Amino acid sequence: MGIFSNNNNSEEYIDISKLNLPTHLGIIMDGNGRWAKRRGMPRSFGHKAGGQTFRKISRYCSDIGIKYLTLYAFSTENWSRPKEEVDMLMKYFKDYLTEALRDFRNDTIVLKFLGDISAFPKELADLMKENEELSSQRDGMVLNLAMNYGGRAEIVNAVKKISQQILDGKLSVDSINEKLISDNLYTANQPDPDFIIRPSGEYRTSNFLLWQSAYAEYYIDDVLWPDYTQEHLNRALFEYSKRNRRFGGV
Ligand code: IPE
Ligand code: IPE
Ligand code: MG
Repeated sequence: MGIFSNNNNSEEYIDISKLNLPTHLGIIMDGNGRWAKRRGMPRSFGHKAGGQTFRKISRYCSDIGIKYLTLYAFSTENWSRPKEEVDMLMKYFKDYLTEALRDFRNDTIVLKFLGDISAFPKELADLMKENEELSSQRDGMVLNLAMNYGGRAEIVNAVKKISQQILDGKLSVDSINEKLISDNLYTANQPDPDFIIRPSGEYRTSNFLLWQSAYAEYYIDDVLWPDYTQEHLNRALFEYSKRNRRFGGV
């Protein structure tokens, strides 16, 4: 578990969990549709396969000691997709959250949702709340699922919350600072992401963790999400461990 050979020289094995790992890892789970299309299948087939990758990779991250994992599962813009595709995604989300309630009772993973969950069908929103409540007392990895998430919508939401507190006389304009904004985001009380991986070869953030990723390291992988394995993740984490983060300093 977590041991990999960095090159083809099988003598040189690296124990991933001993590397300088990101405290907070983000992954944009992208490429499901193209994966299905290449197989002549409907896009939803790719989402089902991507769901299996999600299960394996989240478990692996917990096993190697990642403390916070944020997975981008559904953006505020993804509602614009064809209804059949959105409906199938909702079904797969429901299947996973039902399974999590039923089978992961003794788990250590804390589940959280980033995004406005009130937009989801009630049954799904209830499953999200139940999973959050059930897992809130655990002490393992925090697994954030970004669903109906958009970085811009998150900042708008924070501005509204802060404005309301000012109108209520609970805050002064002078007390607005970076920390206050961070504290009003969905990721309040969590460290910023250190490392963000995007499979499927796209070089863009697509509205993911805009505020929080100010100093995140990025890594683009050409592999499509359904084909993503722990070996791909090991390689990315190994590269992260060698990055020189300067945060504007020297
Ligand atoms: C990511 O895969 C899953 C979601 C956005 C829900 P895509 O569905 O975006 O797959 P591609 O990018 O079209 O291949
Ligand atoms: C980003 O992927 C959202 C998720 C992976 C959930 P998209 O496929 O929606 O992003 P674009 O459209 O390629 O920018
Ligand atoms: Mg995509």
